[in-house]
Amino acid sequence: MKVGILGSGDVARSRGGGLIKHGHQVMLGTRDADKLADFVATHKGAQTGSFAEAAKFAEMIVLAVKGTAALDALKAAGAANLAGKPVMDATNPIADAPPANGVLAFFTSLDQSLMERLQAAFPDARFVKAFNSVGNAMMVNPQYKGGKPTMFICGNDDKAKATVAGIVDQFGWETADMGKAQAARAIEPLCMLWCILGFTKNEWTHAFKLLHRE
Ligand SMILES: NC(=O)c1ccc[n+]([C@@H]2O[C@H](COP(=O)([O-])OP(=O)(O)OC[C@H]3O[C@@H](n4cnc5c(N)ncnc54)[C@H](OP(=O)(O)O)[C@@H]3O)[C@@H](O)[C@H]2O)c1
Repeated sequence: MKVGILGSGDVARSRGGGLIKHGHQVMLGTRDADKLADFVATHKGAQTGSFAEAAKFAEMIVLAVKGTAALDALKAAGAANLAGKPVMDATNPIADAPPANGVLAFFTSLDQSLMERLQAAFPDARFVKAFNSVGNAMMVNPQYKGGKPTMFICGNDDKAKATVAGIVDQFGWETADMGKAQAARAIEPLCMLWCILGFTKNEWTHAFKLLHRE
């Protein structure tokens, strides 16, 4: 698959490296391609471009920008370049404020997630929340004694979710589909829960697992 990754940070790089490892073609979109010179030098086949070029290139898009900049990055990508495509959304609505006792501040409320805002602003794109609730170091084929970790996803379009679930599977996770876009109100705060252990105990390699009673 041709994947356009919007972002140049740790998540964009982790996802980009993983997708290349699994045989996908990748273009990373950024406002400043110089930032990715080291990534391109170490990842054969990786391309870079503007947000719009990466989105146009893509059959599937990965959104990996700062939460406060997500709308602007998508506007720069261009609604026409997003239309009809799955957008795997790893962003979190983290506010520009320090954590309180390890708890991050969000700029959204529990009545509307960031992904719902993005979906409303770009109705023809097919947003799927995924990979927002684990650190970038553990996103691709992590090994845990407790077995496969769980990636909670949601979104309005079943076909887009199936595409994203395929990547989740390639990256060694099991998918828990929580339903429509509103479920992002619950999935985005998993980032807050995940980060508490980081900020308070300096643990950054854990992951969530959903256990079903047989
Ligand atoms: N770090 C993690 O382990 C982790 C894990 C799960 C989820 N997440 C979420 O994933 C997202 C990416 O995280 P990250 O740590 O990789 O990077 P980040 O530092 O949160 O974001 C960097 C990206 O944001 C873009 N950006 C910043 N300001 C912008 C603006 N005004 N307009 C357009 N783009 C702008 C930058 O674009 P340029 O390339 O143009 O500079 C860059 O690509 C975040 O929403 C984060 O909450 C992070």
